[in-house]
Amino acid sequence: MPKAVRITETGGPEVLRWDEVEVGAPGAGQALVRHAAVGVNFIDTYHRSGLYPVPLPSGIGSEAAGVVEAVGPGVTVVRPGDRVVYAGGPRGAYAESRLVPAEVLLPIPAGIDDRTAAAVMLKGMTAQYLIRRTYPVKAGETVLFHAAAGGVGLIACQWLKALGATVIGTVGSDEKAAIARAHGCDHVIVSTREDTAARVKELTGGAGVPVVYDSVGKDTFLNSLDCLRPLGLMVSFGNSSGKVTPFDLTILSQKGSLFLTRPTLATYTATRADLEATANDVFDVLRSGAVKVEVRHVYPLADAQQVHRDLEGRRTVGSVVMTP
Ligand SMILES: NC(=O)c1ccc[n+]([C@@H]2O[C@H](COP(=O)([O-])OP(=O)(O)OC[C@H]3O[C@@H](n4cnc5c(N)ncnc54)[C@H](OP(=O)(O)O)[C@@H]3O)[C@@H](O)[C@H]2O)c1
Repeated sequence: MPKAVRITETGGPEVLRWDEVEVGAPGAGQALVRHAAVGVNFIDTYHRSGLYPVPLPSGIGSEAAGVVEAVGPGVTVVRPGDRVVYAGGPRGAYAESRLVPAEVLLPIPAGIDDRTAAAVMLKGMTAQYLIRRTYPVKAGETVLFHAAAGGVGLIACQWLKALGATVIGTVGSDEKAAIARAHGCDHVIVSTREDTAARVKELTGGAGVPVVYDSVGKDTFLNSLDCLRPLGLMVSFGNSSGKVTPFDLTILSQKGSLFLTRPTLATYTATRADLEATANDVFDVLRSGAVKVEVRHVYPLADAQQVHRDLEGRRTVGSVVMTP
């Protein structure tokens, strides 16, 4: 029987269990996918910890690449033998093989290997909608991207640079600062010892930036608002340090009639057309070389507990992948 990581209760990394699971044959609209590489995302820790409540027991993980072994009735988008990747649908990607709704599967273009596909799909599509749709960044603009050396961060910063933006990134250490600089950041702020808003004001001649992409959440939210120019857009898209606490809306008027959005990838890829367009944009920047993805951290799937410890402990750089 195949094995998968599952939770029967929420809590720390220790609640991740490595169990045998029954997979069965694909039903209508489903495909049986044997995973070659599983993408790790910070949202997996929210499901595990209970920050984002999920019905229990539950699988964990949203992203993987592998081979279609069988398809159920009515499936036309993929065939047995196809190499595919997905970033969404029901949780449960931390598995050797599983059933997946075929509508979320995307064929992996030739030239992109399974580990790269699993490393880039969810994070790359996130970077795509943030910088091309939520706030379409134009050449010559200066923008702030938090957690610049993270999984989403390293992809977004390279892509922003390719769009002609001046990129200010925040990181937690000097080692990560060097990596962020090598991946498109013009200016790096080490947030553990510098005041981000003060540095952003200094770097922009007091003007502030038109957009802040903030996935750190609780620890950075208010300071991020102080980085914006009047009418600027605050994009709060994650909670790595915890959920943003409730605040008085008039803060947005006091700080310059600011805009605020709390977007999620699921909304931006809800239709098959949007999913394919977003994914194709990611494949294009990989093919052109504008975005390069080196997978620095590869763990066995059975070591998911350690993966979560390292991700939450800020010890990872770029994308993290697990292999069955
Ligand atoms: N809304 C969406 O559609 C969407 C989609 C994908 C991801 N996200 C969010 O984007 C963020 C990045 O995701 P990812 O998977 O690529 O993770 P990641 O950026 O590789 O890891 C999170 C990073 O956040 C930074 N961080 C700052 N304070 C932290 C704290 N108190 N605890 C832990 N980390 C802290 C750390 O970098 P430093 O040490 O350099 O500060 C850490 O490496 C997450 O918040 C995730 O939830 C949102």
